[in-house]
Amino acid sequence: MKDNHSNKLNLGVNVDHIATLRQARRGFYPDPVEAALRAEKAGADSITMHLREDRRHIQKEDIYNFSNLMQTHLNLEMAVTDEMLEIACDLKPQDCCLVPESREELTTEGGLDVVKKIESIADASKKLSENNIRVSLFIDPDFHQIDATLEIKVPVIELHTGAYADASGVAKEMELQRIVEAAYYAHEQGLIVNAGHGLNYQNVSHIAMIGAIKELNIGHSVIAYAAFEGIDRAIGEMIQLMNEARV
Ligand code: PXP
Repeated sequence: MKDNHSNKLNLGVNVDHIATLRQARRGFYPDPVEAALRAEKAGADSITMHLREDRRHIQKEDIYNFSNLMQTHLNLEMAVTDEMLEIACDLKPQDCCLVPESREELTTEGGLDVVKKIESIADASKKLSENNIRVSLFIDPDFHQIDATLEIKVPVIELHTGAYADASGVAKEMELQRIVEAAYYAHEQGLIVNAGHGLNYQNVSHIAMIGAIKELNIGHSVIAYAAFEGIDRAIGEMIQLMNEARV
């Protein structure tokens, strides 16, 4: 079932997990920049890199290196801190997605509380906009958060799909409904609506059907799938090298 808002749905690929694998050995490979360039060649419309305060995956050099080589555009995901604002205003990526961040979390756990933190988020957004960076707020599918976003005139939201991805049965239906209603409400108010978190090959279709959504940002499932799809070739090439060394 497609609705009449149908237009092209963009895919933003998050390459943080390639960097996670690299940081496991603190080495040089696999390189998230190379992954990003390959993702672009494969059809990705944009690349997301989340520069976390604890630098657990993406490093500062990665965002600068990718910016020099990219063919699409960079969506820099970051917390609202002075350090991150300074980096963003220096790098000037096309997009900045502001997210909440805590050091203990395994991944971004919830949306930004724009209602409660309206002043600091408004200040950060203003600073970024003044540097020609388009600001996006990562928020739960909640009308109050959308209204607060409108109040501070931020042009883009990314709806958090994590609760939908984690739920099952009736709860999943309800989470989907929340996203549908939030997406159309925000779209009608003139916001650009993106969505992401926890989307995978099993659950993406229902979100992709929502015509009010412009872009989906997906990372973990795509990188995990790529690793599996690459196993046969990786093993084959290693065996070949070993055998060649023995002739
Ligand atoms: N969007 C935002 C704002 C995120 O924080 C993340 C995770 O870094 C994603 C999208 C991608 O989520 P996933 O890796 O679960 O696809």
